[in-house]
Amino acid sequence: MINRKARIVVPISGRGSNMTAIADNIAAGLIHDAKIVLVLSNKDDAPGLKLAADRGLKTAVLPVYSESLGRKMTREEYDEQLAQVLTPYEPDLICLAGFMRILSAPFVQKYRNRILNIHPSLLPAFPGEDAHRDVLAYGAKVSGCTVHIVDEEVDHGPIVVQRSVPVFDGDTKDKLAERVLFEEHIAYTDAINLVLSDNYEVVDRRFQMKGL
Ligand code: GRF
Repeated sequence: MINRKARIVVPISGRGSNMTAIADNIAAGLIHDAKIVLVLSNKDDAPGLKLAADRGLKTAVLPVYSESLGRKMTREEYDEQLAQVLTPYEPDLICLAGFMRILSAPFVQKYRNRILNIHPSLLPAFPGEDAHRDVLAYGAKVSGCTVHIVDEEVDHGPIVVQRSVPVFDGDTKDKLAERVLFEEHIAYTDAINLVLSDNYEVVDRRFQMKGL
């Protein structure tokens, strides 16, 4: 149990709408006893960085290209640097929000059960980088979003929250993405509250509230 405001780090790579939804829902009291202590991007031009700064949030950029090495870092090197950047912030929860990197096993193990990710499909259907394209190409009639605990496999860990949307005839990727994104912002808030309640257990793959 955390006896202070839970410290949340939000890694992003782009637009940052999930990050702003989390920040705004903390400010509105919809996420309880939590604060974002850092918004970190691997891209210095991520639009979400400005949105974070506008909200008075601390931001950092950790590019994959290392000036000191004169080359891109390997996945493991990057994640070691990432852990070094994050350690002083003492994160209770790391909420990946469009962070376009796969995390290495040592990083996942260091923060076991404390990393959440949001994926824009109903996992295990349509994992990967272009879920909406794949949903439409497959002809699925229902889609949605999944907030899950991050484990060593991509788009795989125990599911915390899912929300569904219909797929309509004539949908485009953009229309479907917009419908799903609306649900993402609700799902992430719900998932953070559930995880921070510290009143859950993971039995095999099943995330469930204790005592049920
Ligand atoms: C979202 O659709 C999320 O599900 C996926 O990446 C997108 C990020 O959007 N992982 P945003 O940057 O939060 O607006």
